[in-house]
Amino acid sequence: MRYNLYFGKLFISFLFLFFGLQSYAREIRDMDFNWKFMLGDYSGAEDPQFNDTKWRTLDVPHDWSIESEFKEDVLHGASIGYLPTGIGWYRKTFNLSKNDSKKNIQIEFDGVYMNSDVWVNGKHLGHYPFGYNSFYYNMNQHVKPGLNTLVVRVDNSRQPSSRWYTGSGIYRHVRLIVSEKLYVPQYGIYITTPEVNLQYATVSVKSKVENKSSLKRVATLLSIVSDMSGKEKARIETPFSTEKDTELEQQIQIMNPDLWSPESPVLYKLKTFIIEKGKTVDQLETIFGIRKIEYHADKGFLLNGVQTKMKGVNLHHDGGAVGVAVPGAIWIRRLKIMKEMGCNAIRTAHNPVAPEFLDMCDSLGFLVMDEAFDEWQKGKREYAYNQYFDQWHKFDLTRMIHRDRNHPSVVLWSVGNEVYEQSTPDGFKVLQKLLDICHAEDPTRAVTVGCDRIDMPNTPTRLEFLKALDIVGYNYVDRYIHRRELSFLYDKLIYPEWKIIGTENSSIYSTRGAYSLGNDPNKVTPDYNTTMIDPELLWKNIFVNDFVVGDFMWTGIDYLGETKWPNITPPCGVTDRCGFPKDSYYFYKSIWTDEPVVHLFPHWNWSGREGQIIPVLCYTNCDAVELFVNGKSYGEKRLRVLRDGKTICGNWSTYNPKEHITTSDYHLSWDVAYEPGVIKAVGKKNGLVVFTEEVKTTDEPKALRISVDKMQLNTKNRDVAHVKVEIIDKNGNVVPYANNQIRFLVEGEGKLIGTDSGNPTDHSAMKNSNKDAFHGLCMALIQTNGKTGIIRITAHAENLEKSTITINSR
Ligand code: GAL
Repeated sequence: MRYNLYFGKLFISFLFLFFGLQSYAREIRDMDFNWKFMLGDYSGAEDPQFNDTKWRTLDVPHDWSIESEFKEDVLHGASIGYLPTGIGWYRKTFNLSKNDSKKNIQIEFDGVYMNSDVWVNGKHLGHYPFGYNSFYYNMNQHVKPGLNTLVVRVDNSRQPSSRWYTGSGIYRHVRLIVSEKLYVPQYGIYITTPEVNLQYATVSVKSKVENKSSLKRVATLLSIVSDMSGKEKARIETPFSTEKDTELEQQIQIMNPDLWSPESPVLYKLKTFIIEKGKTVDQLETIFGIRKIEYHADKGFLLNGVQTKMKGVNLHHDGGAVGVAVPGAIWIRRLKIMKEMGCNAIRTAHNPVAPEFLDMCDSLGFLVMDEAFDEWQKGKREYAYNQYFDQWHKFDLTRMIHRDRNHPSVVLWSVGNEVYEQSTPDGFKVLQKLLDICHAEDPTRAVTVGCDRIDMPNTPTRLEFLKALDIVGYNYVDRYIHRRELSFLYDKLIYPEWKIIGTENSSIYSTRGAYSLGNDPNKVTPDYNTTMIDPELLWKNIFVNDFVVGDFMWTGIDYLGETKWPNITPPCGVTDRCGFPKDSYYFYKSIWTDEPVVHLFPHWNWSGREGQIIPVLCYTNCDAVELFVNGKSYGEKRLRVLRDGKTICGNWSTYNPKEHITTSDYHLSWDVAYEPGVIKAVGKKNGLVVFTEEVKTTDEPKALRISVDKMQLNTKNRDVAHVKVEIIDKNGNVVPYANNQIRFLVEGEGKLIGTDSGNPTDHSAMKNSNKDAFHGLCMALIQTNGKTGIIRITAHAENLEKSTITINSR
């Protein structure tokens, strides 16, 4: 459910004008600002009188782990990214009016990692172990007019609690919800679209209403559907009376609906009002989409009746330099980078995400596999979720579904990743419990699990487990030798009724800008010309087999943790932590989009290797690409995947008559004797040049070149600018080996919230204003400080010309 902080006030006046009603409707108050924080454990810190004057003042979202340097001796650092964890306390005071304190007051946290305890005015509200889910407490009994004290203890001291970087602290948003005592509880609205076609759609709304007063209440539920500009499409009123709780169901017809899809992510708003004796006592707004989803054993996934392949990425929850306290603007940029690659689907590996992440997927247009757990009863790490599974899985899974089920982007639930129970005799019973929860709480979506042991020798995923799944999820489908070529088809031939998805498969692993020709100067043994073979074969299989729903690569963006020192990041992403594309990004772009792609690699700075044969590679979706080295042609090459054939009986000689395909691989390759200069690829479609790319041997580093993703920051939204610095030679070419240290200076109404270069072995703190560039690039994240005005960012480096840019915060 999405809340609009400003909706409350605006809506009060709207109601007054249009209904002549007096409104007491709910208010959502931002609780992100002015917390006191201290690392360590403090006896009595939950007491309102506790002296916290020496504690640090900060705003949440906050991740204390990312504030440190990376250190090899961090306990279990290989799992969690070599950053410290521990215990931390947060305290915050807030005011309530006399009128407020008579109301229904709830505090909601979008995510605290992990093991949180919350107190208000010294009263313990609850303990919540899971670090990835939203939770809330009702505070009616314990708040008072005037000053109130909210305290949170976070315990992330028991390690390892995860297989990847988790971050520590109140790392997502916090809000206060002040409503009347007759109100819609959290996640109390459930919208589905049981009938969808271009002429009309039926929107079904189930609304829970809670009555926290001692009286029977007689009221009306008014539901209004409008488009995102506010234009009303339909409304319905339902009178009701309740002594305690009730649930009301309404069906609303929308004529000529605009259907939601990744290409056209049209959204609608449902405004909900509870009206009692002419007064609006509660109101809220829920965003939804009108779309129809179907999974089919032969046709894969159908969206609004149209066969749609999921071209997916797995994403962990960290945002690189900011750790897990990720401002919205950072995810928006990252998701746009994924979208430009042609990605239309995301798996939330392997836990519930921040609610605003799903809002972004709704509005940018992604299909989401919403995943709950990485482990069930059998643990993968000593202090991970298996400790809590038995006691908490029902609550946690139900909460995730209730919170996320109105998002049109969410098209599939995943209840587990590579859980050991897939191969135990009773594992399917645990699975069945989770499936039952999903089916009961949301019968509109299918459920999967990422299974990595299908056909594993000795401990394979058991058949009863696979058969229980709505959709069989494959992690690393081509892992076993007999499946290398056929992948999904291997099982499909035996179990034609199975619905099949690739939940996780390898991307092309690499480090941005790093190429090796081997250490022997007399030989060339490149490390970059074989890594694409598996993903190429996988995607040929996926495109040729309609029944495969799609696939999610591991991973879209580099993440922290799950690696071995001196690395802090494994090279799985097709962009680095900064979102700077690696070569592999263009492989996916070439097969996932129709935009012309010609991407040449490696770099062309191979001094000392003159005359040696160096493979020059190209990802392209052009019909033909010709390579030139210093003006001399190395010939035109043509790829075609999937190759054309004849659908009816005919003359073989007409097969691909003019195109002379040179390969059915997804990449082109030329062997070139190295000479410094320029390599140039010219891509043609239908005989016309559509794309040209050049890679040049560069000169020495000369200057810095600064650029930014936006010139204007939105002050209210705590907006962030991504400042990119390139190290260039005298001709303006990025020097591929340059790693000069960059010093960022920020003046005016902005603050530096992180620096990074994507280097997997840089151990300096992400909050430093100095950072070594990596293969010619570096990035600084600049956030508005909440005031309007100018922000000037200058990048300095010794012996290089500095570069400055000025942006606005408005
Ligand atoms: C998978 C697992 C992911 C990640 C990946 C690393 O098996 O599901 O979480 O660990 O391997 O390559």
